[in-house]
Amino acid sequence: MLTPYDVAVCAAQEAGKVLARYFHEGFEVRNKGVADLVTDADVAAERRIAEIIRSAFPDHAILGEEENSGDVTAEHLWVIDPLDGTTNFAHHIPHFAVSIAYLHHGVAQCGVVWNPIREDLYIARRGLGSTHNGKAIHVGSQQQMSESLIGIGFYYDRGAMMEATLAAIGACFRRQIHGVRRFGTASLDLAHVASGLYGAYFEYQLSPWDYAAGQLLVEEAGGRVTTCTGAAMPLKKTSILASNGQLHDEMLANVREPYVGLGRD
Ligand code: IPD
Ligand code: CA
Ligand code: CA
Repeated sequence: MLTPYDVAVCAAQEAGKVLARYFHEGFEVRNKGVADLVTDADVAAERRIAEIIRSAFPDHAILGEEENSGDVTAEHLWVIDPLDGTTNFAHHIPHFAVSIAYLHHGVAQCGVVWNPIREDLYIARRGLGSTHNGKAIHVGSQQQMSESLIGIGFYYDRGAMMEATLAAIGACFRRQIHGVRRFGTASLDLAHVASGLYGAYFEYQLSPWDYAAGQLLVEEAGGRVTTCTGAAMPLKKTSILASNGQLHDEMLANVREPYVGLGRD
């Protein structure tokens, strides 16, 4: 009998084939909002994932970015981003991923993040750790921000949230960090924290499909994930701070204030 873990890995790899085909053969790009793009690959990949999940588990709910608005309170819930990093994809940059998480009663049980072009497969299983292409991964041992590279992300906002993010980046640089990186795929940013490449990563707005799998990757690799105010992650649009744990309080002291200034929870 297939388990949710088997189905998550299979669906991610099948969706990856769909993405790779569009990436190499061509696709249409449309604007969902200012600077927020979608391609026919996003939609086709989500359809493929939903088809695989439904054929194995017809009664499970699916929450996906493009077409599936499953109930987040469902006992069995799949949270999927068929193409995380659409802006990279649209500009022919091979740094994007399929992100799939399976949750039972709201608690992530497994998460898969798959970059089909670079063939990077990250898997997290509750209680069993995180892996990258089959090898166990762990968060880094950085004790202070001044020893760390920090991942960042910008939501599709060109106003107050963008300014607040820039203020937080300035605060991070004043802690003498090694640098910031903005690679444009939240699930892979979280995989980079889980693998120890980044000491921490933050972004002021993400949706559950962006972080559900990556959050489990970080936690199972020994790290910590909260909102940018230090609260437990809710299963809704929220800010995110992921770290190796050791850097969490120092990071919070730098990213919390600009975020709170936006007047969000
Ligand atoms: C986006 C990417 C990006 C992050 C944005 C997300 P999408 O997802 O993860 O890195 O900065 O906030 O919305 O739109 O490419 O699926
Ligand atoms: Ca995304
Ligand atoms: Ca997406």
